[in-house]
Amino acid sequence: MATPSLRLLPEPYRIKMIEPIRILPEAERRKRLADAGYNTFLLRSADVYIDLLTDSGTNAMSAAQWGAMMIGDEAYAGSESFERLQSAISDVYGFPYLVPTHQGRGAENLLSKAWIKPGQSVAGNMYFTTTRAHIELNGGIFHDVIVDEAHDPVANLPFKGNVDLKKLEALIKKVGRAAMAYVAVGAPVNLAGGQPVSLDNLRKVSALCKANEVRLVLDGARLVENAYMISQREPAQKGRPVAEILKDMCAVVDAIAVSAKKDAYVNIGGFLATRDKGLYDEASNLCVLYEGLHTYGGMAGRDLEALAVGVREMVQDEWIAHRVAQVAYLGERLAEGGVPIVRPIGGHAVFVDARAFLPHLTQDDLPAQALAAWIYQATGVRAMERGIVSAGRDEKGRNHRPSLELVRLTMPRRAYTQTHLDYVADGITRLYEKRATLPGLRFCYEPPRLRFFQSRFELAPVKVNA
Ligand code: F0G
Repeated sequence: MATPSLRLLPEPYRIKMIEPIRILPEAERRKRLADAGYNTFLLRSADVYIDLLTDSGTNAMSAAQWGAMMIGDEAYAGSESFERLQSAISDVYGFPYLVPTHQGRGAENLLSKAWIKPGQSVAGNMYFTTTRAHIELNGGIFHDVIVDEAHDPVANLPFKGNVDLKKLEALIKKVGRAAMAYVAVGAPVNLAGGQPVSLDNLRKVSALCKANEVRLVLDGARLVENAYMISQREPAQKGRPVAEILKDMCAVVDAIAVSAKKDAYVNIGGFLATRDKGLYDEASNLCVLYEGLHTYGGMAGRDLEALAVGVREMVQDEWIAHRVAQVAYLGERLAEGGVPIVRPIGGHAVFVDARAFLPHLTQDDLPAQALAAWIYQATGVRAMERGIVSAGRDEKGRNHRPSLELVRLTMPRRAYTQTHLDYVADGITRLYEKRATLPGLRFCYEPPRLRFFQSRFELAPVKVNA
């Protein structure tokens, strides 16, 4: 049964262009999955029916964005498209300085290079894969200071992404202010299930950082979703326009590193924006080395244009309300079928709790990796592992062992209909009914960096219960 909230929230758009998708027969899917080493990143897109691997760069652009692409100024230097993007970013986020990058990890690289001295610490509310990788590549040490409840898939708190202020304060005391490169707050927290940070918490983090002269950065990949959840869940902010809340969040930080492939409805792009002239000077100079000239940063002029329009569209309340409601609809439909999901439901994805789905598997059976594989095999739907495989290894080569073993069903923006979501929910519910028969996986190839993208797996030996 559809939830009333979604029935009352029809799409604020209609379809102008379609892209055919097809579902392969199950025997064929089984073969393609084995060929892909049971890693959903290694499947061919043409073999996927509904692609919920990620919401990153998989958005449908608006007619206004496509139109703007035609006026892209492809000049190497001083492009007008850059000027239009800069004015959109300063209007919407409130930062005067902009360094464009090819995507979010480009901005993470520039920020980490500009601000980390080897051996310094960076505190954050749960790690993100590419963010931590760049911190570590630049000699930094990452410390998780998220609230404990974030590690519990069923703790139903409105702001499970919040920073634990006591943990942050204790860390600053322990390592000393001078050894803190910066604090990086992700809002919302992708790997905790898309959990938001409250405006109140962000302001307190900012005050603590100021008191200790530690710099504060936001990971703004999905900041609009966080601002929307604040407008829904934080009593003092209830009902305020998302655009205002977003600006309030940016007002208390020094800089923002953004993957534009999420909120801003584009297929590629990123940026670093700041009010710190020193950071701007250093990052825009590094940009020339790693991305491209500081007025295009690895993007074509037409991409800058699409992004400039998308940044203004993304803060319109009806768009973001519909997006978050779509995700909630899928989550509630799965929950109705008994499928264990992370609560509260996040803004960009439904996270299925693989430990609870496959209780007969241990963490070494890679339950979330296995579940993502079996979902594809059973339904043609592509999802992503967010568990021990994504967490990678520490500097001694030991596996990080996250408490969360999740499969992420991520919602591309403006791409799928309610009928698609019903198909996904019904298929995964049927798989849940057969869960006891599903085996685990083990590695057969593991690359040294960000292993989840390219690892290959094989079936784990079936355990015989004593
Ligand atoms: N920060 C967050 C919170 C992200 O989710 C991502 C990307 C990045 C930074 C890096 O940005 O991909 O543009 O280089 N997340 C994608 C995902 C890959 O599927 O969640 P990027």
